[in-house]
Amino acid sequence: MTDQSNHNHSGRKLIIAIDGPAGAGKSTIASRLARKLGYVNLESGAMYRALALKAIDQDASFDDETALVKLAQESRIQLEPTLNGNRTLLNGHDVSSRIRERDVTEAASRVSVHPKVRAWMVARQREMGVGGGVVMEGRDIGTKVFPDADLKIFLDADPVVREQRRMEQQKIKGEVAASVAADLRERDRRDRTRAASPLMAAEDAVVIDSTELGEDEVLARVEELTRRKLEG
Ligand code: DC
Repeated sequence: MTDQSNHNHSGRKLIIAIDGPAGAGKSTIASRLARKLGYVNLESGAMYRALALKAIDQDASFDDETALVKLAQESRIQLEPTLNGNRTLLNGHDVSSRIRERDVTEAASRVSVHPKVRAWMVARQREMGVGGGVVMEGRDIGTKVFPDADLKIFLDADPVVREQRRMEQQKIKGEVAASVAADLRERDRRDRTRAASPLMAAEDAVVIDSTELGEDEVLARVEELTRRKLEG
């Protein structure tokens, strides 16, 4: 059920950007906020993941920018918000679970370094969000996709805490956990150091460090910031 109690009074539909590294809690906050506002939650990472899956299925090299752009152009990648979370469709097929698997996660991190792949994604993401009423999450939403977003949040947390959260989410322990943590660190490094739109907070983003904050506390802060924007 959509909780409209926090709906804006002016009827203005905001564009809200939530960026940050993996494991900082973006997805949970973005989807809870969207539900409260009656907005659509768009996970931009799922689009990179869908393209990565297509590259795996087609045996394309993750380093071949031209081939990857061609694959993107030939693909229909749809983000479909539902009451039970978002579905991702690739050429009409529901790939929501498949794109969370480890091979796709790794491939998504690699295909997303290419500037022309990013340009294609950014254009699609702008089309999806341009009307407002969206909470879009990712790495470059506030810096590149919607530099004029009404509200920009950069959600961060200590790397060790982010790794622990990921382990708990995926219910993994022991040796597997150690290697998943190493993967996460590597993807983080790639996100922050790539030449094209590296992960960083936009100058006008509100940075929230969730290391010592619970989900409800983070949500309360973001809701308060949203309320001020709607009233301001
Ligand atoms: O948020 P996620 O883990 O689903 O993202 C998957 C990959 O896509 C991740 O390695 C970073 C990349 N990504 C990106 O470069 N820009 C975005 N706006 C979203 C995700």
